[in-house]
Amino acid sequence: MNIAATMDGHGKDSTRRNWDAAATGWDRHAPAIRAWLRPSTDAMLNMAGVAPGQTVLDVAAGAGDQTLDLAARVGPDGRVVASDISEKILGLAAENAARAGYQTVTTHLADAERLDLDADSFDAAVCRLGLMFLPDPAAGLGQIRHALKPGARFCSMVFAGPDQNPCLRILTMTAMRHAGVPPRDPFQPGGLVSLGRPGGIDTLFQEAGFSAVATTRMDAPFRMPTTQHYLAFIRDAAGPILQILAPLSDAARAAAWTDMAGQLDAFQTADGWVGPNTLLLTVGRK
Ligand SMILES: C[S@@+](CC[C@H](N)C(=O)[O-])C[C@H]1O[C@@H](n2cnc3c(N)ncnc32)[C@H](O)[C@@H]1O
Repeated sequence: MNIAATMDGHGKDSTRRNWDAAATGWDRHAPAIRAWLRPSTDAMLNMAGVAPGQTVLDVAAGAGDQTLDLAARVGPDGRVVASDISEKILGLAAENAARAGYQTVTTHLADAERLDLDADSFDAAVCRLGLMFLPDPAAGLGQIRHALKPGARFCSMVFAGPDQNPCLRILTMTAMRHAGVPPRDPFQPGGLVSLGRPGGIDTLFQEAGFSAVATTRMDAPFRMPTTQHYLAFIRDAAGPILQILAPLSDAARAAAWTDMAGQLDAFQTADGWVGPNTLLLTVGRK
């Protein structure tokens, strides 16, 4: 498998297809994701300065879990634009917002590197666990900054490096080994922890023209009853891992999942399964 295909233009098609395929799973696990990311999502909205009456951009919005938080914060006089590259997952975001009664949410189907939004039109922007998937995050940051009003803030949430996210390291390295993909630099663009190099994301924000850039590190342990519950989430919803395993036969894929389960059992505790995760929340002002 050519993992570098996820890095270039035609790789966007496979990114889109993979998130279309993972869309229902990501949505189905929304309660677990919501609990996992509760404190960090609140911090992200605070850092972006999201407030009543604002017009806010949600980049790589997925099935819209944080979109609902944004809609609650901006209130009935505000507006939220949820954007994503996957039509399927964005459709679920629209459904979830409608079901929650938020008429202030609209969707914008677009690659974050080509948002093509009006200049100076948003009071704030956020991107939860999306920026690291961009092959060219500088292009995405440029597009987001362009859409912000002068003085408005953007806050992104990404994973810190592989040492701070051992479960992601296990999942990625095991999937690559089973798929016959040679080991690669975890900080190579487009991967799960690609923006986790210390200081790296601050530099990217600054080079995109953001000022007052600051990063906060937050621990976000993923709590599940057992290893198998965590793996069920990954098997249903983790687009990048599924993408690596996609070319394998069913038997070879089953062997990879069994291998991962054996390693992830190390995080089983007397109080359930607890997978350590560290997130980086980075804010910048236009
Ligand atoms: C891990 S999910 C996060 C979804 C949501 N923000 C959340 O936290 O629940 C990553 C999302 O990034 C989106 N994505 C990946 N590459 C993208 C790109 N180039 N442009 C826009 N969205 C992208 C995927 O379609 C997916 O919805």
